[in-house]
Amino acid sequence: MILKDKVAVITGSARGIGFGIAKLFAENGAKVFVVDLDADAVNKAVASLKSFGTVIGVEANVTDGESMSKVFDSAKENFGSVDILINNAGITRDGLLLRMKEQDWDMVMDVNLKGAFVSTQRVSKIMMKQKSGVIINLASVIGLMGNAGQANYAASKGGLIAFSKSVAKEFGSRGIRCNAVAPGFIKTEMTEILPEEVVKSYKSEIPLGELGTVEDVAELCLFLASDKAKYITGQTINVDGGIVMR
Ligand code: NAI
Repeated sequence: MILKDKVAVITGSARGIGFGIAKLFAENGAKVFVVDLDADAVNKAVASLKSFGTVIGVEANVTDGESMSKVFDSAKENFGSVDILINNAGITRDGLLLRMKEQDWDMVMDVNLKGAFVSTQRVSKIMMKQKSGVIINLASVIGLMGNAGQANYAASKGGLIAFSKSVAKEFGSRGIRCNAVAPGFIKTEMTEILPEEVVKSYKSEIPLGELGTVEDVAELCLFLASDKAKYITGQTINVDGGIVMR
């Protein structure tokens, strides 16, 4: 129960990695806000998580500052604080650069990068008053190493890493920590769509030889969100089976 009574807002948590983080956080005593675009998926997620603890579902788009402010204000009003923000909502719109539509570039930047900015800016007002808070941004190894066909996604995740360092520097003196988590290839709906031969070739490049699980990522987030990581900020920590070594 290392997050006992902590209030956590997790974006894009109706499924995939975000859902895994919401489950582990609820199991560890946090009061969890499941925020996602998809109302049906939010309801289903809350129904399957409520036996683990206090879980509240909210339908919201991370690019919409007003909606995100309402989420943070409601968390603060109902539970007295917002201790943890996980900027997890993310999308891909892959395509080779020469053929990439501006609309696909903009959409990925909007959700993956601007969404994190909007939520972080809004929550920081509450965290600064509290003089405490933890922000974790879900980046990707693609933001470190690049990937053909993912220029938009790679740029958004690289941007998120630089953003995390800036937030850590700006808010460190106010008791707020900010880190990025960079997963490698994790089994979720985002990677389920990949052709078998692509997955095979990824596996051949992973020293641990397998795709990771949602739980592998959630365990790192649990540690970073807890007081056990109280002296860690501005870092990008990979959970990738060793695919990127720095
Ligand atoms: P997913 O596609 O399974 O789930 C993403 C969730 O975010 C969905 O429930 C979706 O409805 C929600 N979402 C999308 N746009 C939103 C918006 N504008 N506002 C609110 N919610 C929104 O994705 P997955 O695989 O769970 O990934 C989660 C995060 O981890 C993403 O940021 C992704 O880029 C990152 N990541 C995933 C990896 C993987 O292998 N699955 C590897 C590296 C990073």
